[in-house]
This record gives sequence, C-alpha cells and structure tokens, in this order.
Amino acid sequence: MRDRGVSRGVPGTSRGMGRDLEDLRAAAAGCTDCELHADATQTVFGEGPQSAWLMMVGEQPGDREDRAGEPFVGPAGRVLDEALTRAGIDRDEVYLTNVVKHFRFERQGNRRIHKTPGVTHIRACRQWFDGELAAVRPRVVVTLGATAAKALLGPTFRITGERGTEREWEGHRLVPTIHPSAILRGSPEDRADAMDAFVADLAVAARLR
Ligand code: URA
Repeated sequence: MRDRGVSRGVPGTSRGMGRDLEDLRAAAAGCTDCELHADATQTVFGEGPQSAWLMMVGEQPGDREDRAGEPFVGPAGRVLDEALTRAGIDRDEVYLTNVVKHFRFERQGNRRIHKTPGVTHIRACRQWFDGELAAVRPRVVVTLGATAAKALLGPTFRITGERGTEREWEGHRLVPTIHPSAILRGSPEDRADAMDAFVADLAVAARLR
C-alpha cells in the first residue's frame, strides 16, 4: 500500500512527553518501535539548546548523519548552514531535528540509497518529536521539505504555494520551506535562484524571533 502521509494530530504514544531532552535522547537511543532501527547505525536524535527559539524539522537522517549520530552534518546540512548564515540565523541557537530518527535506505551494491520514510515510521517516531517539541517549546517551527510538513500539517499540504508563509500551529508560528537537499538535486544553473528563495523563506522565520 502506498503511504499517504500522516493525518494532522495523530500523535504517537505519550512515551516522549514531559521529559527533558537528555532523558528523551537516552530513551530514543534504544527505540525499536519500527523496523528501521535494525539496519540503521543508531538513533539520530535532535540537537541544539533546549532554550532554542527556532526548531527546524527535517525528514530523517541521511547516510552521513546515520554514521555521525548528528542531524544535518552531511551535504544537505552544509546547504542549510549557508542559508542560515545568509538569513541571519545562528545555527547554535537552533534546535535541529527530524520527524524520523533512523535512516531508511536501500542497498545498491555497497551504497546506501535514501528511501523516504513511510507513515508507519513517522507514526512510530512521533512520540520523540512530540517530546522534543514539549521540552524546547520553540517560538517558531520551520519544516524542511514535504515529509516534515505533511507529518505536522496533514497529507494535503503542498510546498508549492505555501512555502515561506507563516501560520499558527499548535501554539507555535510555523513556516514551511523546501528541504535543502532539493537544492542539491536541482540543476546547477537553477541553484543560485533556488538558494535565494530558500534564504527568503528562512528570513520569514528570522523575523518571527
Ligand atoms: N536530511 C534530513 O532531513 N535530515 C538530516 O538530518 C539530514 C538530511
């Protein structure tokens, strides 16, 4: 069956709620609630200060993040870092996380190719995201890409037309934008414009600080 995204307001269990980040990180490290833990190297929990005003939410760790155990340290992370700097946001004041905390991939020879997480993985992991959100209580949430946006806003959400706009979401200001890996996947001649548009979306979030 094809995954159709996650309905709005479908939380996971309450295991992640009401706990501080270190406590949550330790609990998530042993999570076996979906099959992704079996092939991934480790749980990649969110990172950043508990006092962060901004939480950025990606899809899932990539190959580099899976090995390092940290979010956004690979090529997409470098694009994100450049865009944050240009938007006047210091990465040290951001809490960075993903809706799914284990790397989902397919083996092709000795390469591990990213595979989009399914609704069951997002549901199983939601407890950890809900726990992070409750612990950090950021003023602003930025979703990076369609998977994160649909996980929080519902399956009918479309990036085109809605990116860079702010909305109220569960007591936070939320700004959806593209995933930085989309800039890397796009054609080199479009890259500068795509980067400018990404920076403009992040600047919307920066103004909400
Ligand atoms: N892509 C994501 O969505 N998250 C990461 O941590 C890295 C790449």
